[in-house]
Amino acid sequence: MHRHFLVAAVLATVSWLVAGESNFATYKLSLRWPPAHCDAPSFECKPHVLDTFTIHGLWPQFADGKVVPPYDPETNRCTDVTPVNPDQILGQMTHLIEALRKYWPNYRDYQNETLNENFWKHAWKLHGMCSDYPDKPFSYFRNTVSLSVKYIDPFKGTRITPRIVPYIAKDISDAIKEKLGVYPQIACNEVGGTVQLTEVRLCFKRDRENSPSILQDCPIRYAYKCSDDTDEISFVPHLIG
Ligand SMILES: *[C@@H]1O[C@H](CO)[C@@H](O)[C@H](O)[C@H]1NC(C)=O
Repeated sequence: MHRHFLVAAVLATVSWLVAGESNFATYKLSLRWPPAHCDAPSFECKPHVLDTFTIHGLWPQFADGKVVPPYDPETNRCTDVTPVNPDQILGQMTHLIEALRKYWPNYRDYQNETLNENFWKHAWKLHGMCSDYPDKPFSYFRNTVSLSVKYIDPFKGTRITPRIVPYIAKDISDAIKEKLGVYPQIACNEVGGTVQLTEVRLCFKRDRENSPSILQDCPIRYAYKCSDDTDEISFVPHLIG
């Protein structure tokens, strides 16, 4: 009797892990600084580069800071419902397009609708399909935009502004901590030997009942070309011409 119960419990657990909803813990809102992407030789951008932060994405991540891998029916069935296919999301986005263009444009040419639409589909494919909204792309995008409106200018009111002279990483991180009460993740690239701030990422608690809104420290504080509080990081000013 006991043994049967145990077997049933184990089977239930296994099937939950395979087909049940993903057990991620937080959402990471990635805000990108276009000038730092656009001065990298590998990226071609139109001359008019935005010098405002824009949304890169809202990414479900596990408690240790690893990003949830993309939905895959064979290897990563992160949800019980069938996620909306990336090619089908735009039809549901009509009332959001204006806001998406403003807050969530691609950085190569923010006025190019094809590039924007591809960017949104890509965001959905990589991170939306395993979020809490696999069958509700409108909610996923709307909630991300709502969150971003509040944080889109993460250094506003701090002493961190774009400038030629690099910052010590800790000063950037501390400025966010002082302003918002939590540590961000800072992501960098490297161009011609200079480490540049490319993204400020804010972490939010997952709440299965409500859209994410409660900030928490990001589990991993630096990404890509920056890795430590003592790094020197350029917050590059807007490029001229
Ligand atoms: C938009 O970008 C695509 C892909 O790079 C390109 O083929 C197309 O010509 C661009 N459209 C405009 C209006 O610049």
